[in-house]
Amino acid sequence: MEDNKKVIFSAVQPSGNITLGNYLGAIKNWVDLQNDHHCCYSIVDEHSITVRQNPQELKKRTLDLLKIYIACGIDPEENILFIQSHVPAHAQLAWVLNCYTYTGELSRMTQFKDKSKKHTDNVNAGLYTYPVLMAADILLYQADLVPVGKDQMQHIELTRNIAQRFNGIYGDVFKIPEGFMPKAGAKVMSLAEPTKKMSKSDENPKAYISMLDDFNVIAKKIKSAVTDSEGIIEYRENDDTKAGVNNLLTIMSAVTGRSIDSIVAEYQSKGYGDFKADVAEAVVEHIRPIRQRYDELSEDKAYLIDIYTKGAERANRIAQRTLNKVYKKIGFIL
Ligand code: AMP
Ligand code: TRP
Repeated sequence: MEDNKKVIFSAVQPSGNITLGNYLGAIKNWVDLQNDHHCCYSIVDEHSITVRQNPQELKKRTLDLLKIYIACGIDPEENILFIQSHVPAHAQLAWVLNCYTYTGELSRMTQFKDKSKKHTDNVNAGLYTYPVLMAADILLYQADLVPVGKDQMQHIELTRNIAQRFNGIYGDVFKIPEGFMPKAGAKVMSLAEPTKKMSKSDENPKAYISMLDDFNVIAKKIKSAVTDSEGIIEYRENDDTKAGVNNLLTIMSAVTGRSIDSIVAEYQSKGYGDFKADVAEAVVEHIRPIRQRYDELSEDKAYLIDIYTKGAERANRIAQRTLNKVYKKIGFIL
């Protein structure tokens, strides 16, 4: 890239429902960053098959996610939006980096431990080496910043270690990237069990808000969110009994842009019922224009194809440059 703008890379998997957690933890932050950075945002279909996917659904969800990116406000002309499997260099670099990553490092990954407990019938090698594919995603674009939710910071740390190790042997091949978390919303919690992360693969649909849920369903889920019996609207970090209220305050702050303190002050003498109703309304009003744009995009498949085709061309050009550099360094004949 010719100017001084920093490069951003991030991605979401097209598996399951895109939740308010994905939006507040990642996508909303991407929108805020797009003006003064070069941004590449991918739909990482190769990552999603580490867990079994239904082929028809995977196809649908891949396009749905592209629509969500655009509907949330990511400009597809200014930024590179693409589907991971359209850029073969991701899988190619991942293979190389696999040979520069230790099994001990991968065994320590929290997400691997969690997912292998959850899918005991399919603890496949892809699930295990998935952080290496993620490192390849990021390093191919020489990204400076990677905006993600808190749960991904461990993978970014690993990416940095792999890149530093590789650079230590071959010279400056990769830019060392940094993770970047939002101020509010880095970890949106489950509405049903607020000490757990809101997850799109949760079996209980009441635990998460899908960006595509009906508005009355969203409101209902927020109104029935688990809180506590204390009746005090207050933010108390690290106090598990307050996890539900903390979470609702965080969500309210993230969708309105207001500070948690100002929200707490407003609800000092009010009850959970009023508070939840207002959080529900704030979330619905925030999502409303996104949904409208999403519905419009659903009518225009040719436009979406055009976006991902152009995105793949641009991504391929950048990714291939890095891959060639890597191949040369390690002694592959080009
Ligand atoms: P995934 O759903 O695992 O593909 O995650 C996509 C992005 O959303 C990553 O940057 C995650 O860190 C972020 N994310 C997922 N769940 C949450 C959550 N509950 N709170 C905040 N960020 C999240
Ligand atoms: N692993 C990320 C997740 O599950 C998704 C992802 C894949 C990603 N490649 C990435 C995020 C590169 C940031 C950068 O959420």
